[in-house]
Amino acid sequence: MDRISRMLSGIEKDRSNMIKALQLVQDEEGYISDESISLIAKYFSVSPVDVEGVVSFYTQFKRNKPGKYQISVCDGTACHIKGSTLVKEWIREEIGISDNETDREGLFSLQTVACLGCCSLAPVISINGKVYGKLDRKSLIKILKKYKRGDIV
Ligand code: FES
Repeated sequence: MDRISRMLSGIEKDRSNMIKALQLVQDEEGYISDESISLIAKYFSVSPVDVEGVVSFYTQFKRNKPGKYQISVCDGTACHIKGSTLVKEWIREEIGISDNETDREGLFSLQTVACLGCCSLAPVISINGKVYGKLDRKSLIKILKKYKRGDIV
């Protein structure tokens, strides 16, 4: 029995359960790999293209392995007004990744999220749950460099 079949052993092999299965796999592995797509397709007796279609339809599913540091850029109303688009641009310039991507070293990945609940600090990001606010280009780059150097773990 492969690892996906073991993971999904309690789920009935009915196509309507595919989303539930994908959520379970993502919770366990952090993303949906090519291998997982093939094994899930085999489990439900459908083609990998069918599984890929479901994965790409729902934004909750990640196709890239998350980096060691998950950067979440808030794009709630306050942060949007205060420049969340610019924040993402600065991250792209410094690390070379855009939304839902992971850098080559596997150090950082980036996602956009809704309000992080600290709007008075807009624009806000969190890195592995630690919140950084009132960001400008200089302060953001300084924070990212600290993570790169391993000054913050
Ligand atoms: S809108 Fe960004 S923290 Fe609320």
